[in-house]
Amino acid sequence: MSGDANALLDEIAHIGVDRQRGGYTRLVFSPPELELREWFARRAGERGLRAETDGNGILWAWWDIVGAERRDVVVTGSHLDSVPGGGNFDGPLGVASALAAVDLLRDRGVRPVRPLAVAVFPEEEGSRFGVACLGTRLLAGLVDPERVRELRDESGRSFAEVATDAGIDPALIGPDPARLQSIAAFVELHVEQGRGLIDLGQPVAVAGAIIAHGRWHVRIDGRGDHAGATRMVDRQDPVVVAAETIRALRAHALVVDEARGTVGRIKVTPGGTNVIAASVDLWLDVRHRDETAVRRIVSEVVAATERSADAEGCTVAVTEQSFSPTVAFDAALRERMREVLPAAPVLDTGAGHDAGVLAAAIPTGMLFVRNPTGASHTPAEVAAPEDVAAGAIALADVLESLITR
Ligand code: GLV
Ligand code: MN
Ligand code: MN
Repeated sequence: MSGDANALLDEIAHIGVDRQRGGYTRLVFSPPELELREWFARRAGERGLRAETDGNGILWAWWDIVGAERRDVVVTGSHLDSVPGGGNFDGPLGVASALAAVDLLRDRGVRPVRPLAVAVFPEEEGSRFGVACLGTRLLAGLVDPERVRELRDESGRSFAEVATDAGIDPALIGPDPARLQSIAAFVELHVEQGRGLIDLGQPVAVAGAIIAHGRWHVRIDGRGDHAGATRMVDRQDPVVVAAETIRALRAHALVVDEARGTVGRIKVTPGGTNVIAASVDLWLDVRHRDETAVRRIVSEVVAATERSADAEGCTVAVTEQSFSPTVAFDAALRERMREVLPAAPVLDTGAGHDAGVLAAAIPTGMLFVRNPTGASHTPAEVAAPEDVAAGAIALADVLESLITR
């Protein structure tokens, strides 16, 4: 049905179902994500939107103005990749709502005076190659393409290899200033990842800010040995050091008001019950409105890890994978969105988004749709069908205002 984001979400609800973890696992350029990209290109094509994949693997579906150049473009969209075991809304809701909004605008007989594009950004979650919002970081020149080509996934495959298999030439990734300069505004609709709208009793919010956040890879090397034959005093056990890293992160994040610190991924090698580990890889995710607080927490955690490693006879190496400063979305665009949606409150978010990355280069705004559980990055993430419909209408209202003047 035209303008129905719920129906579009239903169409993809079987893609990337993860029977082990629950929910969805749709890692960038994996079979489910590629299937979703094909689905998007097909659904865009049916709407007469011309789909193209750029050098960074970003999909663009164009509602062009006949005879006019692609200048002052209004862009909407989101991502189709997921975290491991995530929900069907974080990302896809923005993509489905964008397509539905195009239908609504056409049903309304809107005649754009500037082009509209729907974009799908790859590796927003950074779940495969570690760097969050990889596609938009490449587009905006915020990450070195050479480094990106060498990023490896869990199985050791490089970005360059995986992208090549997905039909993307890794030699072509990198900044695209001309494309960025052609964009007048970007608006991303997203499921809310918190309880703000539940508490306020509203279906849709306008975004105010994204808090600063970053990711760090911590590698601890020790000495593998036998769990029964090795005396406790003779061990160099990296798991003991990792335990201190996790404890220190909790302790340092707890004492800073509104800080967030998470270790959600840990890899013990070789990983046997009766084996003292040789190494541990773990990843820190740290967030706070004040980016200096983020950096302070991380340096305290690293110092605690190094002290523990010294005591245990282990070594530590820490690498920053990505860092996103605090983002205040474009004030003029936000005011415009509030004029169009006067009932919508303004909410900040602790979650990262491609809109946050693009905000450094172009006027950017976001809409959030109520999530009755307030949970995200879990199958418990949800949006009620009537709120999904309200979100698509709100997005269409905002886009109409932007493409008709
Ligand atoms: C993405 O959703 C993030 O906030 O990490
Ligand atoms: Mn998202
Ligand atoms: Mn997410």
